[in-house]
Amino acid sequence: MTNALLVLGSANADLVVEVGRRPGGGETVLGGDTVVLPGGKGANTAVAAARVGASVALIGAVGGDGYGSLLRESLESSGVDTALVKTSARPTGIAYITVTPDGENSIVVSPGANADVSLSDVDALSFDGASVLTCSLEVPLETVIHAIGAASRAGVRTVLNLSPVAELPTETLKQLTVLIVNEHEAAQLASDWRDLLKLGPTSAIVTLGARGAAVVARAGIVEVPAIEVDEVVDTTGAGDAFAGALSARLAEGDNIVQAAEYAVKVAALSVTKAGAQPSYPTAAEVG
Ligand code: ADP
Ligand code: NA
Repeated sequence: MTNALLVLGSANADLVVEVGRRPGGGETVLGGDTVVLPGGKGANTAVAAARVGASVALIGAVGGDGYGSLLRESLESSGVDTALVKTSARPTGIAYITVTPDGENSIVVSPGANADVSLSDVDALSFDGASVLTCSLEVPLETVIHAIGAASRAGVRTVLNLSPVAELPTETLKQLTVLIVNEHEAAQLASDWRDLLKLGPTSAIVTLGARGAAVVARAGIVEVPAIEVDEVVDTTGAGDAFAGALSARLAEGDNIVQAAEYAVKVAALSVTKAGAQPSYPTAAEVG
């Protein structure tokens, strides 16, 4: 293993269709043409990190179907090492996304192959040469818990994007270098952001949408303002872009505030273009 960054998480095909309105029970509505995009929190995070120059491998699973090939192609063309993405007997994970004219999304996720990412996949990992493991939660929770424990014991720093919020053992929370949550998730966990550290992590980051992010450390809270953009086109995957870029910079040796300053730039660029992975900038574009 020579990748400095390991990402454990989901790979999904996003099937997006525009509809005039959502169908009720037993009802059929006609939509526009289906747009198929590579997605899933794990794949998004790995692609964001690779685009800005990280040496990164994804640990995950896809099916042996066309969507699996689409995901492998997106990962590999961005420079993500896919040797640890296994091909499962189950279908590739799919997010069925309907978008109404008010811009609101309704999403059904079929985890498929993502449900097969298992403890034995973690046990097969070598942390040799790795400096950061970044996890998100669309794969089995027990696998994430096992991976954070193994990384921590191997002296590898750990980042968890806790989206959506899930119950984690105190021991796991204590093994975290960085806990990432958005504003809503932070409110579910603690009434004061400082109290996020009482849960156990060494540091925490609260992402604040168009307002940027807050870094919560023992020494205090550092606000990292967002980069203003001319036009917000699509915020899908902005949180994953942030997590990927942050992890890439931590693996390069930045401190957490420096890494967050870089991540808000990457996430801002990602909201100016459609889609998640297709919108992620390269290091040259970040400048
Ligand atoms: P999530 O999508 O996970 O809920 P946020 O909405 O907080 O996460 O967005 C993640 C990051 O993306 C923010 O911390 C910010 O840096 C960036 N971002 C999101 N929306 C905008 C925006 N409108 N303008 C600039 N940056 C944005
Ligand atoms: Na985007």
